[in-house]
Amino acid sequence: MQDFKIVLSEEDISRRVRELGAQITKDYQGKKPIIVCMLKGAILFFSDLIRQLDLPITIEFARLSSYKNGVTSGEIEIIDTIKTDIAGKDVLIVEDVVDSGKTLAFFKDILLKQNPASVKICALLDKPEKRKTQVDVDYTGFTLGDKFVIGYGLDYAERFRELPSLAVVDSEEEAKSKL
Ligand code: IMP
Ligand code: MG
Repeated sequence: MQDFKIVLSEEDISRRVRELGAQITKDYQGKKPIIVCMLKGAILFFSDLIRQLDLPITIEFARLSSYKNGVTSGEIEIIDTIKTDIAGKDVLIVEDVVDSGKTLAFFKDILLKQNPASVKICALLDKPEKRKTQVDVDYTGFTLGDKFVIGYGLDYAERFRELPSLAVVDSEEEAKSKL
């Protein structure tokens, strides 16, 4: 892992993903949820999680952006959103990390206007200390403090998404030196 400090190993992650999958399977019994992958960061979490769901799911992808070169800009841009009709459907958004909460509060609002039966959020990581906009995270993998992490889909300046574990970056200089 290029000398980064690992905070969650592959085993830690896969154990928690199995637990989340079992819980979601139980909660959505009798339903046919639409599982939405938030690109790019949730790609690995999403692909592992959906294989733990014993439900008749369909999948969709959305891509919103709020970070530029590792630093938040505060502005949210919709790069691509789901095109399917979600009226009357149960939607589960799968996200890598909820930080300020702005991205998901914004996206959930858009989806709620389309009259779905429900919209819930499943995030691999939650940083409640960093919250600026209130948003309910219905399923959380792990809670983190004010730390910047990379790997397992999460990037710094579009790098390190392929790393199988989650590692903490202590400073911008550390991340930059390894780009
Ligand atoms: P929010 O709108 O501030 O909640 O932004 C969440 C988005 O910021 C996530 O989907 C990530 O793309 C990015 N992000 C937040 N924290 C981290 C981190 O620690 N590592 C990598 N990306 C992060
Ligand atoms: Mg993201």
